[in-house]
Amino acid sequence: MKVFVVGSGVMGSGIGQVFAMAGNEVKLYDVREDALKKAMDNIRWSVQKLHEKGSVRDPDSVMSRISTSVDLNEAKDHMVIEAVFEDLKVKGEVLSKVSTITHEIIASNTSSLPITDLSKFVKNAERFLGMHFFNPPVLMKLVEVIRGDLTSDQTFYKALDIVKSLGKFPLPVRKDVFGFVVNRVLFRMFTSACNLLELYTPEEIDSVAMKELGMPMGLIMLLDYTGIDVNYDISKEAERRGFPFRCEVLERMVRSGKLGRKTGQGFYDWSKGKPEIKG
Ligand code: 3HC
Repeated sequence: MKVFVVGSGVMGSGIGQVFAMAGNEVKLYDVREDALKKAMDNIRWSVQKLHEKGSVRDPDSVMSRISTSVDLNEAKDHMVIEAVFEDLKVKGEVLSKVSTITHEIIASNTSSLPITDLSKFVKNAERFLGMHFFNPPVLMKLVEVIRGDLTSDQTFYKALDIVKSLGKFPLPVRKDVFGFVVNRVLFRMFTSACNLLELYTPEEIDSVAMKELGMPMGLIMLLDYTGIDVNYDISKEAERRGFPFRCEVLERMVRSGKLGRKTGQGFYDWSKGKPEIKG
């Protein structure tokens, strides 16, 4: 299968890597060449790491299946995965353009916007749906497959098969509600963790989440890991749709440029790599 991934950030590049590792031809698109270069460096690092651990047999052949593009017209005849900023207008523009270029399935990796709202930008919207990967896409097994009001049965079942072909576990989401399934649960937990910041340190909260709830990463660290800006955008969408996700500190952190792992500073100091939780 030929796959065109729009947006080469952490999610777009990770999704492209997943498709390439499963034998597909991937074109990674962005408006900036330097963003694409950074994405390819990250993918190369990750593929090599997985090779050292034995889950990728031939890293060169994976890399040879990934190319880059700054021309949206190259999406012709490709299945498209949209992974740009979590903003209806930005996503809408991309979807509207790309849906006149390809006739194949178009999926959005949105984590919070309604699929039915996004589908209004798509020409022939019966072939459009949500395919929500989790961060980091190469390591997270679950992928939510979300149908909007206009998604056809054929598109929905094909997308479930595509996710299985990636070696992932598809979670069918039949109701286009805020947060779908996973974020609907996770963002309630984030709200509770944020409220606890008035009384406890991030380390104390995360230590409980890891030791008592068995989470691989604490909730506050996860906010840093997935990006303070990403979670802030999701909080605004949550508010718009009346969902109880509140974490007021996120706005202040975005204003001061503390975006978590990607900037080296968030609730934790990431400048020397993943922070250790003691205690
Ligand atoms: N590719 C290849 N290898 C990777 C990698 C990647 N992208 N990311 C991490 N690794 C490797 C590390 O290099 C490390 O290798 P090593 O053992 O040789 O040193 C190994 O994986 C383990 O990583 P770390 O030691 O850094 O840390 P952890 O053991 O904690 O594992 C983790 C990292 C897999 C991210 C784990 O902490 C985890 O599962 N965290 C939870 C992630 C999660 O919940 N994601 C969902 C977030 S919600 C979301 O995405 C929704 C969105 O809409 C907001």
